[in-house]
Amino acid sequence: MLPNKTALKLIKKYINIFKEGNNIDEFKKELINNLLNSRVLVKTDDGTYTLVSEEEYELMHSRIGALTESVEKFAIPSNLKNMDNPKILDLCSGMGYNAIAALHFNKNCKIDMVEYSEETLFLSLCLNIPYKEHELIKEVIKDYFLNNNSNNKRINLHVGDARKIVKNLNKKYNIVFHDAFSPQRDAVLYTVDFLKEIYNKMNDDAVLISYSSSIPFRSALVEVGFILSEGASVGRKRGITIAYKNPSSDRDLKRISEVDERLIALSTVGVPYRDSDLDLDHDAIVMNREVERKKLKEELSKIDRYYSTKKVKLGKIDEKFLNIQKLDSNSSEIIKRMKEELRN
Ligand SMILES: C[S@@+](CC[C@H](N)C(=O)[O-])C[C@H]1O[C@@H](n2cnc3c(N)ncnc32)[C@H](O)[C@@H]1O
Repeated sequence: MLPNKTALKLIKKYINIFKEGNNIDEFKKELINNLLNSRVLVKTDDGTYTLVSEEEYELMHSRIGALTESVEKFAIPSNLKNMDNPKILDLCSGMGYNAIAALHFNKNCKIDMVEYSEETLFLSLCLNIPYKEHELIKEVIKDYFLNNNSNNKRINLHVGDARKIVKNLNKKYNIVFHDAFSPQRDAVLYTVDFLKEIYNKMNDDAVLISYSSSIPFRSALVEVGFILSEGASVGRKRGITIAYKNPSSDRDLKRISEVDERLIALSTVGVPYRDSDLDLDHDAIVMNREVERKKLKEELSKIDRYYSTKKVKLGKIDEKFLNIQKLDSNSSEIIKRMKEELRN
């Protein structure tokens, strides 16, 4: 899924004006006003701007603030401030807020930005994001549009489908910012297969951060081998997802809710999204998941182990699952143990 089509069309017009040699300062105010008047650009509560998505009820950021969200949901929970030269994979870079926030907290970051939409990147050139690091990101984006070789050795910009780009990256990262649209609207970057590609590009002590707390997404993370933990909720009810490859003992692994652990392990809601060749669209991925859910329900019913979602939520299940949840372990381990028990 992409940002709103009207927005992309408007921005495209100005990309052409820029490529013809015109200075951004001459037209940026006009572009912003056009986008605001078309109601496809929204000013969030911290004064920074975000775009409306292709499906109009989702914004690219929450209303608490585009920059605030980057700071509180990505830069701070990643602990990048305390790392030496952290290498960051910034998926779905959009207007670059997450990369800007990362550089603000640690100027030694090395960042690979990955974004599908040229228009969204271009919009960043016309915004005033109140951290001076925005200038660095703007230079990199400008070089991209002018086909210049960027002088910036710390920031690389990759434009295209993250699935193809990540597969071809030949590096390892300490931090992954996973900032796609929600899986309910666009599941393509939430599949087991894509997350596996990311996992393989992460250092042993690396962390992946996503604002999404969706059950099939977290289930996919567990299947791939991530250790799940939950970060504070910012501007919404549910906490963010912080997933480690191999967390050091000083990491505080906050468990996800017990209901969510049970849903992932025991119910068909926990069936993850799949995309084995990394080429399916959202509808196909969702359809395949429905087929897998149905199959699982049949299999579990045959061995008399099928629990309805309602029963799983209420904990009206065999005591042995509830006992597993009493263990002093992390959510991924608990989920795996419950899954094994389910098939026992
Ligand atoms: C929620 S927004 C991210 C906001 C962004 N991090 C920022 O700081 O502005 C999601 C972004 O993902 C991009 N996107 C959607 N599908 C993609 C894909 N398959 N590969 C790369 N980027 C994608 C969209 O164009 C959009 O800019």
